[in-house]
Amino acid sequence: MKESVVLITGASNGIGRETAFAFAAEKAKLVLTYCHDRAGGQKTENRCRELGAPETLLLRLDLKDNRSMLRAVDSLVRKFGRLDILINNAAVSVWKPLQEQNLAEIENQIRTDIEGLIKMTWICLPHVQDMIINIASGAGQTGFADLAPYCAAKFGVRGFTQALAKEISRLKVYAVNPDMTKTRMSGFQGRPPEEVARVVLHTAKGRYRKKSGSDINVWDYYP
Ligand SMILES: NC(=O)c1ccc[n+]([C@@H]2O[C@H](COP(=O)([O-])OP(=O)(O)OC[C@H]3O[C@@H](n4cnc5c(N)ncnc54)[C@H](OP(=O)(O)O)[C@@H]3O)[C@@H](O)[C@H]2O)c1
Repeated sequence: MKESVVLITGASNGIGRETAFAFAAEKAKLVLTYCHDRAGGQKTENRCRELGAPETLLLRLDLKDNRSMLRAVDSLVRKFGRLDILINNAAVSVWKPLQEQNLAEIENQIRTDIEGLIKMTWICLPHVQDMIINIASGAGQTGFADLAPYCAAKFGVRGFTQALAKEISRLKVYAVNPDMTKTRMSGFQGRPPEEVARVVLHTAKGRYRKKSGSDINVWDYYP
């Protein structure tokens, strides 16, 4: 990973933050994004420098805002000139029966988790040299009650991953699927986010020898 330019969306908290730490320890150049939590983003960036990232760039990114996405990728390209690995990690979820979710909550999940991910990939694509890792979910393989829009989006992320892998042979594209992981999203229940971060890092290093388009399930490596 040394000197690779790696973009991690949603690096201000949770799995994105731990993933940033894992790549920083490998001396990757990191582009880190936050949406609302600038202080969280800065905390991640500072720790990445301490861990050995030779260069970092912290950017605001809102996946629901085309201009924000275009601006962020433009800043990245101006600083680094290329992107080796795109890690589409940022997402939101609402844990309520569908009938109790309001239209704004449904829209927020679909626009962020699938529309934003697809658009961000489209914007980055001309610059990506090596790999795209989409953080999907176990909830993208099985439907869970109280997570219907989120499940729909995460099934979509896996479909997008498989289609893109067939379309673009020069890149490797994977869906990394965490199960319940101890972050804000899960009410801090589940496995340590460090385990997910290790699986993302090993995916980037090609350790699993999986065909492009494959699912990489965190629970297969950390039962
Ligand atoms: N935790 C779990 O149990 C679990 C299980 C399976 C899959 N996952 C997946 O793992 C990934 C990371 O989730 P997490 O658990 O680490 O959640 P988290 O701690 O809530 O972090 C979510 C990240 O996404 C960012 N984000 C939210 N809305 C955004 C938007 N509109 N535009 C850009 N960035 C936005 C947040 O930024 P700010 O905080 O700065 O707003 C934050 O950095 C997600 O794809 C999630 O679906 C999580």
